[in-house]
Amino acid sequence: MEFSLLETLRHQPTWVQLLLSLGFLHFSRLSFSFLKWIYIFFLRQPKNLLDYGRWAIVTGPTDGIGKAMAFELVRRGLNLILVGRNPEKLKQVTGELRAEVPTVELVSIAIECLDVGILVNNAAASYAVPKCLHEVDEGMFTELVKVNMDALTEITRVVLLRMLKKKKGAIVNVGSGSSVIAPSYPCLLFMPVPKRDYVDQLSRSLHHEYKEKGIDVQCQVPSYIVTKMVPDIRRSFFNSAPEEYALPAVRAIGFGTTVLPYWRHSMQCYFAKLARRASLMNGYYVLPLREENSIQLKA
Ligand SMILES: NC(=O)c1ccc[n+]([C@@H]2O[C@H](COP(=O)([O-])OP(=O)(O)OC[C@H]3O[C@@H](n4cnc5c(N)ncnc54)[C@H](OP(=O)(O)O)[C@@H]3O)[C@@H](O)[C@H]2O)c1
Repeated sequence: MEFSLLETLRHQPTWVQLLLSLGFLHFSRLSFSFLKWIYIFFLRQPKNLLDYGRWAIVTGPTDGIGKAMAFELVRRGLNLILVGRNPEKLKQVTGELRAEVPTVELVSIAIECLDVGILVNNAAASYAVPKCLHEVDEGMFTELVKVNMDALTEITRVVLLRMLKKKKGAIVNVGSGSSVIAPSYPCLLFMPVPKRDYVDQLSRSLHHEYKEKGIDVQCQVPSYIVTKMVPDIRRSFFNSAPEEYALPAVRAIGFGTTVLPYWRHSMQCYFAKLARRASLMNGYYVLPLREENSIQLKA
């Protein structure tokens, strides 16, 4: 006699039916999460960034992620205000952007009177080798706090005032994957890590406070991107070039509060969370980086 699958299940003991139902529910949940992941990283249409306004501000546009994002933004028709510290490098980047999109308007000074729609807070000071908090000298400490926290907060405040008037805008704060992958190691790896936690928390608060006023605030938390700040010392599938990161980063503007815009970083974060936190931090990040840079921990 032939039994259908349902008929077979109906004749199983209750505990087997219960286990199978739980398994099915778990499988459905995983499938849904996976489909959602595919949608977000490969299918979702980006927002029309010009709806926020014609101008975008990018801090730290002379290298790495900031420079790559500046290119993505001009390709989408935005004009740029570039905020940097080195006039020579600013001039060079301005030339390269004009070569890419000859009609783009670029300024490197005042924000007044411009229809600023997007602010990318990307600039960050750092140092070449990982240090514990007590190893950071005072001058560097002051610079880190000024650039990574004070300047970011101040420019956000100024731009918010203008965005509130027109009731729209988007602010992208570039934080770091370390704040979502390793939340309990604020000072051990780099002094800039507290900055990333600060930026993430600030962005979340602003997101909730200004969402109703038409302003999208988000913190993007990339993982390894090979730049001057983070050289490619651990060649890995998860590392990316700034140009590779910038496209999904710009497409993610306006979606979500704390976001990992790039699919490989998202996978890395998923696997990292599965790993034991202690071995992840001691084995994967800190020791190799320190060895690589011949750093000796002082007692
Ligand atoms: N690379 C990664 O793996 C990674 C991962 C997570 C998060 N991030 C974050 O991404 C952002 C950009 O990093 P990146 O890797 O692209 O670094 P980068 O290539 O070193 O570029 C940093 C930018 O910030 C500017 N800058 C540095 N120190 C400054 C200071 N004291 N005052 C003003 N501007 C300063 C630099 O200007 P100059 O050109 O004049 O030096 C440059 O334009 C940072 O917020 C960083 O924390 C990076």
